[in-house]
Amino acid sequence: MCLIEQTSRIETRRLTLRAPALGDAPRLAALMADYDIARMTSRVPHPYDLSHAAGFIEKAQCSDPRLDQNFLLEHEDDGVIGGLGLSTPPGQPPEVGYWVGRDWWGRGFASEALQGALVWASRDWKKRYLVAGHFTDNPASGAVLCRAGFLYTGEVQARHSIARGEEAPTRMMVWVA
Ligand SMILES: CC(C)(COP(=O)(O)OP(=O)(O)OC[C@H]1O[C@@H](n2cnc3c(N)ncnc32)[C@H](O)[C@@H]1OP(=O)(O)O)[C@@H](O)C(=O)NCCC(=O)NCCS
Repeated sequence: MCLIEQTSRIETRRLTLRAPALGDAPRLAALMADYDIARMTSRVPHPYDLSHAAGFIEKAQCSDPRLDQNFLLEHEDDGVIGGLGLSTPPGQPPEVGYWVGRDWWGRGFASEALQGALVWASRDWKKRYLVAGHFTDNPASGAVLCRAGFLYTGEVQARHSIARGEEAPTRMMVWVA
């Protein structure tokens, strides 16, 4: 049983960022089955099925909201189109990650969600800074982060990608509220 529930919601121009519910699992599984999404992340496996989506949602529902917050991006007409997560590894600053379903790429949704989440993170979640990292072969995510005000730290970490089954060089960035 989970003691603390994530209730945070973020409204942006076209999106609502809200906590995932178990009923979102089929939609999540359908969108996340795309290898071109999974390979740009560290933790999303491929193939990805309903049990992965349900497991992710259950874990998200039970996480400590002071440390971790997981949102789905809900479009006013199209329903769930992506996700954004903030997680705090022990002894480290919170890190943000996100994805958008392929059919909605290139329409500014990742930027809109990230910028809304940054305002919320400083104003409501009371965080002073966040970090993020993108694989060097993912310039689109670098553009999203730069546009939102993240700066490159100069550090390139070798990070494992479950979907790739290997490490990939990852450019680290920081954002200060
Ligand atoms: C990366 C991702 C989140 C972008 O989502 P999106 O909603 O299409 O992003 P936006 O439309 O807000 O912005 C995309 C930006 O990338 C730029 N871009 C797109 N393809 C690019 C490329 N090949 N090289 C450089 N920039 C690129 C766009 O011009 C845009 O930048 P701009 O706003 O400065 O013009 C989406 O492609 C995705 O989910 N990819 C798979 C998962 C992933 O990469 N997650 C991030 C892990 S760090």
